[in-house]
Order: sequence, then structure tokens, then C-alpha cells
Amino acid sequence: MTTSLAEDLQAICPGLKPDEPLAAHTSLAIGGPADYFVEVLTHAQLVALRKYLRKYPLPTFFLGAGSNLLVSDRGIRGVVIHLSGELRQCAIDGDRVTVGAAMWLPALARQCAEQGLSGLEALIGVPGTVGGGLVMNAGTREGVLGDVVESVEVLDSDARVRRLPREALGLEYRRSNLEEAWILGATLRLKADERSSIMSRIDELLRHRAQTQPIGTSNCGSVFKNPPGMAAGQLIDQAGFKGMRCGGAQVSERHANFIVNGNGATAADVWQLIQQIQATVFEKFGVKLELEIKRVGEW
Ligand code: EPU
Repeated sequence: MTTSLAEDLQAICPGLKPDEPLAAHTSLAIGGPADYFVEVLTHAQLVALRKYLRKYPLPTFFLGAGSNLLVSDRGIRGVVIHLSGELRQCAIDGDRVTVGAAMWLPALARQCAEQGLSGLEALIGVPGTVGGGLVMNAGTREGVLGDVVESVEVLDSDARVRRLPREALGLEYRRSNLEEAWILGATLRLKADERSSIMSRIDELLRHRAQTQPIGTSNCGSVFKNPPGMAAGQLIDQAGFKGMRCGGAQVSERHANFIVNGNGATAADVWQLIQQIQATVFEKFGVKLELEIKRVGEW
């Protein structure tokens, strides 16, 4: 690490942490160090960072809640950007909600429900941020974030704010074309409904989730996408993987599409288990399971 680069980054974002272990920032509690972990608290800091990195290009990676990631044991080179502070704000105006990329999805869903606004119930148990949720069009069988997005605000490569209308986002099942975008936030369009009926839907979804998923463990949500018309969890279960271990990583006994870090797992353990699952499911059922989680860093 060159000192002057660290000093420059520190001047833009005082929350800079060099060589920050990413295991502290992922829900799997796995991941080696980021060269530069930058906590961005304001819109102005993000603009300054984008301008700086245009002059001195370094690889960048946005880390939201770290709940859908497998970060390499060697970590991530370059700058890992974590949004917080004013980028976590949310403003409600009638049925329109303007929200920052760092806002926690379950908190947003609850806040809107309390205001009698429906449309985000499906996200009540999705442990991610608005930014990450937009990139991967996060959600459940009951609905996805993309369903209610009207537009997304990004910083372009010249650090100017651009508003992308919904049609420009390329929203599909667990994907969008926002992968490389510097997302500031989004405008959502919700529907007015009885607060009590929204709340009871939320309670039911949380109850179902607690019954079917390994809540309270270190995991990264569904590891694989559901192949069209099939359930990845069912295929992995039928292939006999429930409870199967590789080092400290284990296929959940509760839901076979979850891998749990039960005992000091490394990213390599998780990756090995993933490859075993893919190979066996392909051999038994002729189905290629695609990753839903993102595998990032230096492998
Ligand atoms: N199943 C099994 N064995 C298992 C797990 C599931 O046989 O070990 C069967 C279930 O009995 C059911 C089917 O597989 O018939 C589907 O299971 P489930 O209802 O749990 O839903 P899922 O398709 O596995 C999807 C999302 C989840 C979301 C739930 C509920 C994907 C990849 N996953 O899971 O999203 O919470 O629906 O809406 O689309 C995530 O994406 O990270 C996530 C957790």
C-alpha cells in the first residue's frame, strides 16, 4: 500500500480502514482483507471519491450488507466502498418513497408498512441494502425490489448525478444491469393499504421464513438461483447434501440451498462444497445450478 494513496483516500473519507478484514462485514463471516475499506457517509464524499478514482484508477467494489457474497480468503484488491450516513435516509411523499442506497431493506419495508404503504412486504426478511438489492433485484417468491422501482439515481463516470428510469435497468430474476453502477438511491412507487393488513402479511412472511430457513446462523441466503420451474433447495436435498460438510462449511439441515459457516469455515471450504453440489446435481438430474451469490476477490 502506498502511503500517499491512503492519505488521499483518508482526506476524502475519514472512515478509511486499510487492510480491513472483510469477514467482519459479510453475513457468512468469511473474507480476507480489503486493501482500502472506505466508509462513505455523505453524497459529497461519494462524488469526491468518484472524481479521485477517475484520476487514479483502482478496482472498486461496493459492499452493502455483505449478505449475498462469498469473499475470497485473500480478500479484495483496491477500494471496497461501504455506504452509510446520509445515504441511509428515506423520505416518504404520498405513495412515492425516495431512499438512499445504504438503507437496510427490512427497515425500509417496516417503515413503509407503518405509513400504510404496501409493496415491500416481500423484502421484510431480506438482509440486504437498497443498493445491493437493486443490483441483484433481490426478493423472494412473493415479490422483488424491482417490482416497485420507478427510477434509480447513479453517479456517472464524471461524477454527475443521473436518473435511470426503470426501463433502463434490465431487471430480471436476480439480476439487473446495475452491476458496475455507483448507486446513490432509488425512487419507489408503493400502494396505500390498511396498516394492519400489511403488518399481518409481514408477520406471516417472517414466521414462514423462520420455519424454513436457518435464521440466526452465519449464511449468505440462497446459494443458487432456482432453475426455471424448479427449486434448487429441493434438487440439492434430493441429491443427499443436507448436513454435508466441507471443512467448517455445512449444507443447512433446514434448507439445502443454504450453506452455513458453522465452525470457522474458509471461503475455500464453501467454494469446494459449492462445486461438489454443482457436479452432483448435474450428474443426477442434468441441471446446471447457477450461483445466486457473488464470488468476489482474489481466488
Ligand atoms: N425444498 C426441499 N428441500 C429443502 C429446501 C426446499 O425440498 O431443503 C423444497 C420446498 O419444500 C419447496 C421448494 O423446495 O417445495 C422451494 O423451497 P422454498 O419455499 O423454501 O423456496 P426457495 O425457492 O428455496 C425462494 C428464494 C428465497 C426466498 C424464498 C421464499 C431463490 C433462490 N430463493 O427460496 O430467497 O426467501 O423463496 O420466498 O429464489 C434468497 O434469494 O437469498 C432467498 C433466501
